[in-house]
Amino acid sequence: VIELRHAEPGDHALVVDRIDEWWGGRPMAEMLPRLFFVHFRDTSFVAEEDGRLAGFLCGFRSQTYDEEAYVHFVGVDPACRGRGVGRLLYERFFAAVRPRTVVRCVTSTGNEASVAFHTSIGFEIERIAENHDGRGGDRVLMARRL
Ligand SMILES: CC(C)(COP(=O)(O)OP(=O)(O)OC[C@H]1O[C@@H](n2cnc3c(N)ncnc32)[C@H](O)[C@@H]1OP(=O)(O)O)[C@@H](O)C(=O)NCCC(=O)NCCS
Repeated sequence: VIELRHAEPGDHALVVDRIDEWWGGRPMAEMLPRLFFVHFRDTSFVAEEDGRLAGFLCGFRSQTYDEEAYVHFVGVDPACRGRGVGRLLYERFFAAVRPRTVVRCVTSTGNEASVAFHTSIGFEIERIAENHDGRGGDRVLMARRL
């Protein structure tokens, strides 16, 4: 049985320990600083099965746009995929950020699974941003209306 709870500082080490493997060997850990597990606990969640980490979502309410929220990272253990854990994490996030009306996220153009997943849970592709982070990578910008 999958159980969801708010992220805690102690979860950070567990998540970064798994994250590169969960992203198929891409070096992702540096993009997920501990601060999400300290200052964004209200809108960040961990999924567990039998006390073991099954997935996580790190997001926040926009400081700049009153109507918006943003998801920085969502990941599910490959052993737990395809069972609705990613969807469940997003549903908890949507509930946490309401009455905000827009949730945004960004993913790599090459990450077709991520684009398919986000589309399945109601995100729309807004545009492709070239050199989005100033380091050459193209990104898919997506939004979900609540
Ligand atoms: C993307 C990811 C979070 C999906 O998690 P998940 O728990 O397997 O997804 P769910 O089981 O909740 O699936 C929800 C919907 O998305 C669809 N979906 C999920 N993964 C998919 C894939 N690889 N290809 C196509 N559709 C997919 C499911 O079919 C489902 O749709 P449905 O309800 O209409 O049948 C997971 O594959 C992952 O961690 N990937 C690596 C990390 C990553 O790329 N994260 C996103 C970028 S930050």
